[in-house]
Amino acid sequence: MSASDGLHEPKIYAPSEAAVRSAHVSGMPAYQALVDEANADHQAFWARLAREHLSWKTPFTKVLDDSEAPFFKWFEDGTLNVSYNCLDRNVEAGLGGKTAIIFEADDGTVTRATYSDLLSRTCRMANALRERGVSKGDRVVIYMPMSIEGVVAMQACARIGATHSVVFGGFSAQSLRDRVNDAGAVMLITADEQARGGKSLPLKAIVDEAIALGGCESLKNVIVYKRTGGQVAWDAKRDVWLHDALAGQSETCEPEWVSAEHPLFLLYTSGSTGKPKGVQHSSGGYLLHAALTTKWTFDLKPDDVFWCTADIGWVTGHTYITYGPLALGGTEVVFEGIPTYPDAGRFWKMIQDHKVTIFYTAPTAIRSLIKAAEGNAAVHPDRYDLSSLRLLGSVGEPINPAAWEWYHQHIGGGRCPIVDTFWQTETGGHMITPLPGATPLVPGSCTLPFPGIDAAVVDETGNEVPNGQGGILVVRKPWPSMIRNIYGDPERFKKSYYPPELKGYYLAGDGAIRDAKTGYFTITGRIDDVLNVSGHRMGTMEIESALVSHTDLVAEAAVVGRPDETTGEAICAFVVLKRPRPTGDEAKKIAKELRDWVGKEIGPIAKPKDIRFGDNLPKTRSGKIMRRLLRSIAKGEQITQDTSTLENPAILAQLSENN
Ligand code: WTA
Repeated sequence: MSASDGLHEPKIYAPSEAAVRSAHVSGMPAYQALVDEANADHQAFWARLAREHLSWKTPFTKVLDDSEAPFFKWFEDGTLNVSYNCLDRNVEAGLGGKTAIIFEADDGTVTRATYSDLLSRTCRMANALRERGVSKGDRVVIYMPMSIEGVVAMQACARIGATHSVVFGGFSAQSLRDRVNDAGAVMLITADEQARGGKSLPLKAIVDEAIALGGCESLKNVIVYKRTGGQVAWDAKRDVWLHDALAGQSETCEPEWVSAEHPLFLLYTSGSTGKPKGVQHSSGGYLLHAALTTKWTFDLKPDDVFWCTADIGWVTGHTYITYGPLALGGTEVVFEGIPTYPDAGRFWKMIQDHKVTIFYTAPTAIRSLIKAAEGNAAVHPDRYDLSSLRLLGSVGEPINPAAWEWYHQHIGGGRCPIVDTFWQTETGGHMITPLPGATPLVPGSCTLPFPGIDAAVVDETGNEVPNGQGGILVVRKPWPSMIRNIYGDPERFKKSYYPPELKGYYLAGDGAIRDAKTGYFTITGRIDDVLNVSGHRMGTMEIESALVSHTDLVAEAAVVGRPDETTGEAICAFVVLKRPRPTGDEAKKIAKELRDWVGKEIGPIAKPKDIRFGDNLPKTRSGKIMRRLLRSIAKGEQITQDTSTLENPAILAQLSENN
């Protein structure tokens, strides 16, 4: 943690003079002026930016409607189209021939798409969707590999006012089915297979499996992009090849002009209870923040080559691949593969080859590439020419100072600022982050709120705690790109994000501490039962439900996280079987079976790293599982907590010995 403890002064990296001179937000006084402007008149601040950064079909007359708080509405009577803002207006501004996307396939093949290409491809796809009856407000699930087609599919939905719900290609048939079902999607866009790490992995076959599970009756068609040419099963009534659907489609398509509040997308994410929730985002407010944060945090300029390594299946890929950089007319890299194929120098080689200037990735990737570089000099970043870089970013989990320093030194050559961006699926874009030409950096701290974001650290009753004292992270004022609802479950929305005791503040679900001297924020991790594994959010309850759904084997299961050097957190499951507690090889065999089961139920990312078997779980006399004890056991800690309320204290020793 970087909050100063009075003994150790944190290391501070001031922005270089060159960075200050050239940045969109130039110097701390400029940052402060924006903060002051927002404080003086929050609505006028956002209204000015919305007018300056978005092209409106009909201008909005009202900025914020809080009459049904916490269901806030921004710019509601304004109309616009998100794909018009990302594509047409750049072409109209003379950028038609500019490269929008540099796509590098898993096997290294590079293809480029200009803004004109993207626009005509988006229009053709939009026309194909319309031809099949998809219209404004319909939900379309996208289960695609990283590809230009994936970005085009999202933009095409935006163009016709359909609400997309992208499902990460690593999710299982069951997870896909649940998302199609919850959203009542009418269309699914997928590919035959995805190419990752030299292998072809199925997508269409998983779609077929998901549909066979039942509950996807709302789906009328499945559009299939032929990526690898691998064998797929075919239902001639339902399935259509993308190239057939596109054949003969016009390259123009009148955009659907929608209210700024029209739902642009749903994105399912894990909460502390129940099934994943469909986080619903707006069109106008969301796009404003996507564009504005790309401009101010990433300082994107016309000549930059921006690369966000996230998948379009996560919010980072939505905001910083599909929407933000395109809204600004930028050039970006889209990568199909994985960082370790053909070797762990892939990222560095791609930065070198494409002369990437701004690079945005996750701490997990950095930590695993540090390990790889230490083990193999051939893939060490020092062997590559990374001199094109001018700015680095980090997202998804706290970045530990050691990884920060390595990233700064070996990737950034000691000259590139690192923006450690704190945000969430629900926030739409950056919330707390340095601005590269203004904010002095402290490794491990996401520094200060983005202008217009009223972040604070409070106690359980919503009162701000003094700096230097940890608490709960909240956002006190609504902001344009905030979550609008949990799809189909407004009650859960209120309960999850606006608990009554917090004075109407947005509850982020993370703990935070502000430095006593600088006021800088450091995120201390989730305060609920959500784990962060390799920057992916996983609900402990979700994994528990998956385990106990193996009804032949599992009687009871409890899942906790434990710190992991590479993945940040690792999933640790404590399982009681319906048969005597296994040991030795039998335990290994059953653990593997359960891991595969979870992989099938949710997806490989949810597979527990550790599985321990017990005759029982530590419970209070009223039967409540004591998770804090399990967390200690998972960490390998000596139990020092009070165990007097425990029904079965002997179980602790059994679970501890089971390493
Ligand atoms: C965590 C990803 C520390 C946090 C954009 C948050 C971070 C959750 C950071 C959201 C960061 C994200 N420092 N923690 N810079 N960025 N987190 O919804 O716990 O996948 O609540 O959005 O990731 O994860 P999500």
